[in-house]
Amino acid sequence: MSAAPTSTFYPHRHLLGIEELSAAEIDGLLDVADGYVALNRRAEKAMDALRGRTQINMFFESSTRTRTSFELAGKRLGADVINMSPSTSAIKKGETLIDTAATLNAMHPDVLVVRHPDSGAVKLLAENVNAAVINAGDGSHEHPTQALLDALTIRRRLGKLSGLTVAICGDIAHSRVARSNILLFNAIGSRVRLVAPPTLLPPAVDRYGVEVHHDMLEGLKDVDIVMMLRLQTERMQGSFVPSEREYFRFFGLDYEKLAVAKPDALIMHPGPMNRGVEIDSEVADDINRSVILDQVELGVAVRQACLEVLARNLDDPAHNQ
Ligand code: NCD
Repeated sequence: MSAAPTSTFYPHRHLLGIEELSAAEIDGLLDVADGYVALNRRAEKAMDALRGRTQINMFFESSTRTRTSFELAGKRLGADVINMSPSTSAIKKGETLIDTAATLNAMHPDVLVVRHPDSGAVKLLAENVNAAVINAGDGSHEHPTQALLDALTIRRRLGKLSGLTVAICGDIAHSRVARSNILLFNAIGSRVRLVAPPTLLPPAVDRYGVEVHHDMLEGLKDVDIVMMLRLQTERMQGSFVPSEREYFRFFGLDYEKLAVAKPDALIMHPGPMNRGVEIDSEVADDINRSVILDQVELGVAVRQACLEVLARNLDDPAHNQ
């Protein structure tokens, strides 16, 4: 293996959550990602930072954009990318996560990209393999590459990430995207407001270091960023909102509620969107304000950066954290 330089700014072996990253490490990853944006817009997209490496994507939960963008990111960097589908694998036959990890480990993959419905499952897997592990979403815990791509989208649009006020609205209780974003904005020096009905807030919300609002017109007042979240009904046991129509009336983003935010406030959504539930269709498609498709585009660059940085560290025994 060639002696590629290690990522001196990034001391970790894995990427399990924003919680373990410093502001400088976040900035460092975003700088690397920024470099990939222009490269991804060229007709010729083949690069070689991961040539000879094997990347296995293990998605134990459904996904469109995250899985596709990790696959594109790995392929554009020259890795051999394998998609393991739990629905057709031995997991269906009752194999435990640790046994699956041991089996895959024996095939010497370099990077595992893992999404799992249980919070903490990705960390457990990381503790049992030699490969670098990237958390592509674990339960309602963390989704670090989503927060990084959200941050890159904002940084490229506004030229900064600190000193902003960010409203995260909707189903916070079940959202790993919200958790990772709260951690990131707190680390980087921006203020977060959570806007949601009490039923959709996590139990210990007062420990998050954020402002909490139950009224969109109060919560969105003068914010720089409006980040909308999907109602994650698949994680709900029972009903958390009276009806989708009523939810839209009070918590759906439309032009009337958006009017109290800063005039140039950006509209964001991690996808998949439920139009007419948490966001009005016209607002979602507003070409001047909505950056939802920029988020998707920059997601590939962010995943390339994470793969590159972790691969650089693989051969260095110092990167064991
Ligand atoms: C999110 C997720 O899976 O956590 N989607 C994504 O990765 N872009 C949010 C969601 O499912 O609502």
